[in-house]
Amino acid sequence: MNYSEEQWLNWMDQLSENDYVVVDDFISDEMFNGIMGFFQEMESADKLKKAGIGTQQDYQVKAEIRGDFIYWLDEDRDLALKTFFELKDELIQSLKRFCYLSLSGSEFHIAKYPAGSYYHRHLDQFNERTNRQITVLIYLNKHWKPGNGGELVIYKEDQEILVEPVAKRLLLFKSDVIEHEVLTTQVPRYSLTGWLLHQPAGIGFLLG
Ligand code: OGA
Ligand code: NI
Repeated sequence: MNYSEEQWLNWMDQLSENDYVVVDDFISDEMFNGIMGFFQEMESADKLKKAGIGTQQDYQVKAEIRGDFIYWLDEDRDLALKTFFELKDELIQSLKRFCYLSLSGSEFHIAKYPAGSYYHRHLDQFNERTNRQITVLIYLNKHWKPGNGGELVIYKEDQEILVEPVAKRLLLFKSDVIEHEVLTTQVPRYSLTGWLLHQPAGIGFLLG
């Protein structure tokens, strides 16, 4: 266990209450360095690809909507991220236990937004695909400062909540209700992003 039950319960309460929760210093320096080492390795091996919009059947690369480059993770292959995946499992157990969510499966990618890129306001559930329950973001920008941009805007009722993408910060939100946007970043912006699913990836398509 990385965190106590009391700690998880507190975060899950905030998520239930507000539809999102921000946790600073969620990952250790060691985990941060491990993830960044992996990130750099994938970047030098040219594994990051331009992200698209839509599902497998209906996939389009739309630079005008989102400008990030991503690499989908595989728990069995990307063993360098073992401790991160263990922490993810702990998160899933806590969500099942304290938020009564029936989760099975998850999908994660690392993402780099080059300077000048953004992701327009959207919801993480596509029309054809409704199995994303919880969005998980871990920000990885060690020397982020005001003016660097790349903040995440959460649109909630008539509020706009700004989340700065500072290193080791966790953001969780409910994928079906929280509209959000990534503001234009002035510097390269790094994150680890994922979704907790209520069905295995790939079969969350509505029939008919
Ligand atoms: C996404 C997304 C937000 C962020 O990948 O769907 O909204 O802060 N990312 O990177
Ligand atoms: Ni999103």
